[in-house]
Amino acid sequence: MAASYGRPIALRSTEPRTLAPPARRTAHVTAVERLGAYHLIRALDSAGPADPQPGQFYMLSTAERWGGGEDERPYLPRAFSHARAREGELSFLLETVGPGTRRLAELRPGDGLELLGPLGVGWRPPVDGTRPLLVGGGIGTAPLLCWQDELGPDAAVVLGFRSAAHAQAATLFAGEPAVATDDGSAGRQALVTDLLREQLDEPATVFACGPPAMLEAVRAICAEAGVPAQLALESGMACGFGACFGCVVPTREGYVRLCVDGPVLAAELLAMPSGGSRPRSPAGDWQVAG
Ligand SMILES: Cc1cc2nc3c(=O)[nH]c(=O)nc-3n(C[C@H](O)[C@H](O)[C@H](O)COP(=O)(O)OP(=O)(O)OC[C@H]3O[C@@H](n4cnc5c(N)ncnc54)[C@H](O)[C@@H]3O)c2cc1C
Ligand code: FES
Repeated sequence: MAASYGRPIALRSTEPRTLAPPARRTAHVTAVERLGAYHLIRALDSAGPADPQPGQFYMLSTAERWGGGEDERPYLPRAFSHARAREGELSFLLETVGPGTRRLAELRPGDGLELLGPLGVGWRPPVDGTRPLLVGGGIGTAPLLCWQDELGPDAAVVLGFRSAAHAQAATLFAGEPAVATDDGSAGRQALVTDLLREQLDEPATVFACGPPAMLEAVRAICAEAGVPAQLALESGMACGFGACFGCVVPTREGYVRLCVDGPVLAAELLAMPSGGSRPRSPAGDWQVAG
């Protein structure tokens, strides 16, 4: 379904929060594919809602061997944005950075994937009269895929990656996204923010997800150009539904729990008061989701 362009970006405090689903459930893995530097996991979530909103996330763990076994430390489920949701099948794009992502990447078709979700508040529609401009960095491309699915193939997409291996994620998008890499091995040797600047000659609403430094640069560029922007952030999440306060991030409206008030926040909520510095979260500064 195409998104309505009629509403402005709402601020966090005016919006309903996502209530936690009552229980974890088991989805069944249908495929695990290597996609350059990343892994793409597909799982059939027959018991879950068929229409997770782009930008929402799930807490994932494996049904078997998720810590606690011999030579394994027990650990909590990990947060992942769904990259796609089609006819009950969820796709997750992940980069292996630690024990949780390594174990998830080992899943095989038929294995159980424990999940809780969809959680949080995702992307809001573009501001009236603007075109959507999707800006992704690295694994932060994941929550932009389902957003392009909903907005339609004409939504402009600019992506930045470390190398050609990471840039294979760009092949998942419709049309021809503009690609930049750090080493020039795919697309242009440039920063994704260079591509963003080139796209700002027409009125746009920017939707961005990527590393913290990229997001801060996107925020500053959009603020200077007067362009509305939404940023998908990351912080450490233990529960995913508002109970542990482990994910709080500082905003202009005070601290918010990113799992219930985000992970997508309006960029203006993150703007630093003039002359001041952004307060630091007890859990560290905010980071990108994806
Ligand atoms: C809302 C939300 C959505 C997310 N969506 C995705 C997604 O779609 N795909 C995805 O791959 N990840 C996503 N993440 C990030 C993922 O949850 C974390 O990377 C997770 O901690 C990985 O678990 P782990 O056990 O493998 O590594 P951990 O043990 O948690 O971390 C291992 C080491 O890697 C570092 N590390 C953790 N995350 C990253 C990272 N992203 N990049 C570089 N270093 C890192 C840690 O600082 C630590 O040193 C998302 C996070 C949030 C909050
Ligand atoms: S992750 Fe527990 S409150 Fe947000």
